[in-house]
Amino acid sequence: MRSIINEKNLNNKKILLRLDLNVPLERDKVTDTTRIDKILPTLNFLIKQKAKIIILSHVGRPKGKIVKELSLKPVCEELQNKLKKKVRFIKENIKEIKSKNFLSDYNEDVFVLENIRFYSEEEQNDNKFAELISNLGDIYVNDAFSCSHRAHASIYEIPKFLPSFSGLQLDLEVNALNKITSEITRPVTCIIGGSKISTKINVIKNLIPKFDNIIIVGGMANSFIEYFGNNVGKSIKEKNCDKILEEIISISKKEKCKIIYPEDVIVSRDLNGSPQNKELNEVLSDEMILDIGPKTIDKITKIIDNSKTILWNGPAGYFENPNFAYGSIQIAKKIIENNKANKIFSVAGGGDTVSLLNNLKAVKEFNFVSTAGGAFLEYLEGKNLPGITALN
Ligand code: 3PG
Repeated sequence: MRSIINEKNLNNKKILLRLDLNVPLERDKVTDTTRIDKILPTLNFLIKQKAKIIILSHVGRPKGKIVKELSLKPVCEELQNKLKKKVRFIKENIKEIKSKNFLSDYNEDVFVLENIRFYSEEEQNDNKFAELISNLGDIYVNDAFSCSHRAHASIYEIPKFLPSFSGLQLDLEVNALNKITSEITRPVTCIIGGSKISTKINVIKNLIPKFDNIIIVGGMANSFIEYFGNNVGKSIKEKNCDKILEEIISISKKEKCKIIYPEDVIVSRDLNGSPQNKELNEVLSDEMILDIGPKTIDKITKIIDNSKTILWNGPAGYFENPNFAYGSIQIAKKIIENNKANKIFSVAGGGDTVSLLNNLKAVKEFNFVSTAGGAFLEYLEGKNLPGITALN
């Protein structure tokens, strides 16, 4: 993997820069800018080298359709504020931009193309689509470690057509995770939560041999709670996953890795409702599980106390509403307390986890915080990530 930082002759070169600008948006406003802040060094480096930068990114999961709420325009505006430099948003259809000379119509050096997932070819990893985009640039740079587990056109195919490099943030994340995985001390506990259940559920069984405890919270825990015979009402969950859960449970027994899922929960009738503590067998059909309960928090804090390494990916509940953030906050506080006392080594990852830690002003209290969620887990799994393979 060649890093762009070592390339000196970038004057006037057109750089296709894949970033992960998949940031939380609320009514056209970016509510957490961590992923933008982290890629500023790469952008400033390229600007200093007098390159022309064409940014490619996705936000959300529009599934090949134009979804107005998932436009990158507000993200482009935030980027412009951060860079203190005019950034041009290109909303026209990428497939209709005929040549790289399109940049000469404008004075800016930094361009953001509209959400790459508005095109179904992106997730289909379409070779022709990648070739067409590659015609817009001279060089490709991947600074989106957090998307590198996706074999998508802008991650995996474009590097086949252009000299390709890693960006500074990708270098940093890969180096840090390499160091962490090679120096890990046991007992190791991995806490997996969040709402992207389908991305994570398949990763768990491969993580089992590497860990002593896997604590399942957030959306994925609902599938476990249901599997063990409880009603989860309207909660988010993965359908038809009994087979994979069976496998997870049987491998964990063989490998002596404890799988912990909630013992009690916080429910409500809707996301804006008031919280109510319930035992697992008390959840009603019109309720949804939105956080872990006090017994579960107690159990998790004890496990953290008995661990030397904690890897945390995904909040324990719907933390966007403070009524359901308590469980995640208690986990964060316990990790921070033990980290300060030098009792553990702590790593957190994922867009939502980072945004939670930012709200708590706690990012610096962890040994390492990765912007990546799914990619972070797959990297821990020991998988070759398509985005990294493509650069090699
Ligand atoms: C992330 O937020 O982890 C990345 O942007 C990847 O998003 P995805 O899970 O929708 O592919």
